[in-house]
Order: sequence, then C-alpha cells, then structure tokens
Amino acid sequence: MNETLRTIAKRYSCRNYDGRLPEKEKIEALAMAAVQAPSGLNRQPWQIVVITNKHFIEEMDAEGMRILSEMEDKTVYQRFMSRGGTLYYNAPCMFLILKQPGTELDTGIVSENIALSAASLGLGSVICGMAAIPLNGPKGSIFKQKVGLLEGWEFGMSVLVGYAKSTGTPHEPDISKIRYVE
Ligand SMILES: Cc1cc2nc3c(=O)[nH]c(=O)nc-3n(C[C@H](O)[C@H](O)[C@H](O)COP(=O)(O)O)c2cc1C
Repeated sequence: MNETLRTIAKRYSCRNYDGRLPEKEKIEALAMAAVQAPSGLNRQPWQIVVITNKHFIEEMDAEGMRILSEMEDKTVYQRFMSRGGTLYYNAPCMFLILKQPGTELDTGIVSENIALSAASLGLGSVICGMAAIPLNGPKGSIFKQKVGLLEGWEFGMSVLVGYAKSTGTPHEPDISKIRYVE
C-alpha cells in the first residue's frame, strides 16, 4: 500500500473533537485540496466557505438542535442527543460547500478531497449534511447572509474538521459489493 491508500483506509467519521483549531497551514491545505477536485466539464460549480468562528458554529449547532427537537419524528434528534447533544460535535472548523443546482456529484468529490486531506494531516473530519438544517430553518436567511450564500447557489455539503478527542475506527468495508467482470 502507498500513502494515499493508507490514508483512504484509515479515514473515519470523527464525532468527537477536542475543540483546538487546526493550524492555518493545515486549513489552507484542505481548502486547496477542495478546489483541486475534478468536476464535470471543469465547471468547478462550488464555493468553499471555511468557517472557524466558534460562536457562529455554535449558533448554527444550537439552532439545528432546536429545530430537530421540535420535529414530530424525534428519531434524528435522539440520535444526536445520544452522540453528545450537538450537531457538530464541538468541531472548531466547518468547510461549507455551496453548489449550483444539479452538481451533487462534484460536491461529493470536493467533500471527500477535504476528508482525505484531513486524515493525511492527522486531523479528524466528518462529512455533515446536517448543516442544511439551520441554513434552511427560520434563522436561515441570517446564516445564509453570514456565509454569503447568494441567489442561484445552495447548500451542497459541509465537512467538519478538527483534532479528534478520541480515536475512532473506519467502517468495515463490505467487499461483497465488489464484482469483477473479466
Ligand atoms: C453525504 C453524507 C452526509 C453525511 N452526513 C452526516 C451527518 O450529518 N452527521 C454525521 O455524523 N455523519 C454524517 N455522515 C457520515 C456517515 O454517517 C459516515 O460516512 C458513515 O456512517 C460511514 O462511516 P465512516 O465515515 O466512519 O466510514 C455523512 C456522510 C455522507 C457521505
């Protein structure tokens, strides 16, 4: 195995951060990896918003949890409560990927570039769709304004990044899903 394959094999979704903000060079390296992602027709249909404002992340977290707590179906809320009662696990940094409509695949590749780069630099990460909850809630317009989400653009995905407080393990790869046609 080479370094890239080792990084892919060791990445896991980190859901417990110690709150320390990663060094600026590391954050910048992840941002660079994000915009180095391939995209259909090289359209690069994304904007990468790197949020390191602790207060802002906590504000979105609290609003997201509030929205989940008020939903009739409490399953998702209870899942996050059982994971510590936060939506963003005390992550100090959120990479918010804004996209143009119909470019989910490009967004996914950007997300994975960030996640793998984070793992390669000794950082934890988790791809987090839950950033959509506060962005699309009652306070959404305030949050959207803060991140510069303009007309014609929408939430793509977020990737939370930071130093892991406790180590996790990668999921068990299901090799039965691989098929060779020779
Ligand atoms: C599109 C997408 C959205 C996800 N959203 C969340 C999320 O909101 N919160 C979370 O804790 N994990 C989220 N995950 C992480 C998955 O739960 C995780 O990748 C999966 O359980 C496999 O575990 P692993 O990443 O440790 O291999 C998301 C992953 C993807 C690809």
